Amino acid sequence: MDPTDILKQVAREVATCEKCELHFSRKNAVPGEGPVNAEMVFIGEGPGFHENEQGRPFVGAAGKFLEELLAKIGLSRQQVYITNVVKCRPPGNRDPKPEEVEVCTNAYLERQLQAINPKVIITLGRHSMGLYLANAKISDVHGQALRVKGRLIVPMYHPAAALHQASLKPVLENDFARLPELIARAAEAPEQSEPIHNEPKEPPTQLSLF
Ligand code: URA
Ligand code: SF4
Repeated sequence: MDPTDILKQVAREVATCEKCELHFSRKNAVPGEGPVNAEMVFIGEGPGFHENEQGRPFVGAAGKFLEELLAKIGLSRQQVYITNVVKCRPPGNRDPKPEEVEVCTNAYLERQLQAINPKVIITLGRHSMGLYLANAKISDVHGQALRVKGRLIVPMYHPAAALHQASLKPVLENDFARLPELIARAAEAPEQSEPIHNEPKEPPTQLSLF
């Protein structure tokens, strides 16, 4: 199937999905949005209040900060793909349960990533980081480019965390500032067909590519 059609098909399925219990309390499922040829995919945790109201990702306070971070590296949100680990709002903004993450990512996020095939995946917060780096500490690995499961991952703090803890704001800004160079260097790095680490055993800092 054409990648554009895959994204459309995923969005259609997400809109009426009942594969996990999050569908009971959602108002609007939030599949994600952005161009199919985006170089970067940002993965948050799950829709919050405003996202659930509007059916669009990162439209609340965290989204505004994400847009500011993108603007500082010369990008608008229209140029990147933005989505979440789970597509329906966990009630009361609770953490998504492991079984919800499992069923939702297998059904949808994996297909979105295959269709877009981005140069880099930026995980925002520990839930999306956990898809690739189960045992990593975000304070150790944030801002590093890591090759995991055949993909280039850059874990970052969640923008909402910086709204609660001001000291994280410059950390996120610094990590974003490195993204253009990481992408340029990734283009030069040899392709690796084999996943290097599904469950990294060594300290995550040794996984750093650059
Ligand atoms: N936080 C997230 O993780 N995702 C959103 O879409 C909005 C806020
Ligand atoms: Fe379906 Fe994902 Fe929503 Fe669960 S969170 S109902 S799996 S779209």
